[in-house]
Amino acid sequence: MSTPDPRIVLVTGTSSGFGRLTVEALARRGHQVFAGLRDVAGRNAQASAELTALASAERLDLHVVEIDVTDEASVERAVGTVLQTAGRIDVVVNNAGMNFAGPLEAYTAQEAHRQFDVNTLGALRVNNAVIPSMREQGHGALIQIGSLSSWLTPPFNGLYAASKAAQRSLTEAWQHELAPYGIESVVVDAAAYPTNIGPNASLPQDQARMGLYGERLTSFIGDLTRRTTENAENIGSADQVSDAVVALVETPQGKRPVQTVVAPAVQYEALRELNPQALKAARIVADDMGIGAYLAD
Ligand SMILES: NC(=O)c1ccc[n+]([C@@H]2O[C@H](COP(=O)([O-])OP(=O)(O)OC[C@H]3O[C@@H](n4cnc5c(N)ncnc54)[C@H](OP(=O)(O)O)[C@@H]3O)[C@@H](O)[C@H]2O)c1
Repeated sequence: MSTPDPRIVLVTGTSSGFGRLTVEALARRGHQVFAGLRDVAGRNAQASAELTALASAERLDLHVVEIDVTDEASVERAVGTVLQTAGRIDVVVNNAGMNFAGPLEAYTAQEAHRQFDVNTLGALRVNNAVIPSMREQGHGALIQIGSLSSWLTPPFNGLYAASKAAQRSLTEAWQHELAPYGIESVVVDAAAYPTNIGPNASLPQDQARMGLYGERLTSFIGDLTRRTTENAENIGSADQVSDAVVALVETPQGKRPVQTVVAPAVQYEALRELNPQALKAARIVADDMGIGAYLAD
């Protein structure tokens, strides 16, 4: 790959997984990168020290910034710090996320709120904080890390899938609303990759209701685990996702596709046409409603 124009990028949720790989890859490509971590003095002290040490060892333009996407004041502070340090933000990557895994009826509305608060409203808070400066500078990109489960909605992962479907819906609304200001909004729909999100999944507090699903839930988890292990070689490593994000960061302004699917071949082939088809249908409907001119190209 040739040397890209350096971009100023803020990524949320970079203690592990896709976020960690993304900030390291972007910084090694010469971009100025702000690695978002929540609770830098506590749970993420080690991640923060590792990123700072890496920046120093490899002389990377990589900086840790504290950001908890569920806390509006924290988000505002982080974006303010980046703007003060770097002068602008070209791209934000809404990567922070968590997973509630279990039957829907076992979750309270309060637990459901937490799932949406991180995965969906987290991106809303971050984007609300960066959009004014992007509008002023006349360019910018909002990249959301989405999931194939937002299209599939498997059982026993409904809250997570719904939070990601809502995030995709917001992505398209941002695209339509912000295109006139030169701001793009896109989603990376990733398949299942072995990161911390699976092992760290939050189970429902109501274990008794979860228990009612008995053997069906047990065999679901067994089948999924078995197949994931069998598929491990096909799935490849999680840096397929960070590579896709790097490619989007480096794509010229105005040319980023609204959806990028990152998945093993069979899943990729099955799913890559979904969003273009949905957008085509949306355009026909919007035209018929008399509002087609308000959709982004
Ligand atoms: N792995 C997959 O199979 C897969 C597939 C499709 C999409 N995704 C999406 O990819 C993104 C990254 O997940 P991952 O798979 O890389 O898992 P991961 O390793 O668990 O990373 C999740 C990151 O989000 C951070 N985070 C959680 N709550 C936060 C909050 N309130 N504020 C700021 N950061 C917060 C975590 O920080 P802490 O360490 O402090 O918890 C962690 O750095 C998520 O949006 C996920 O939904 C994952």
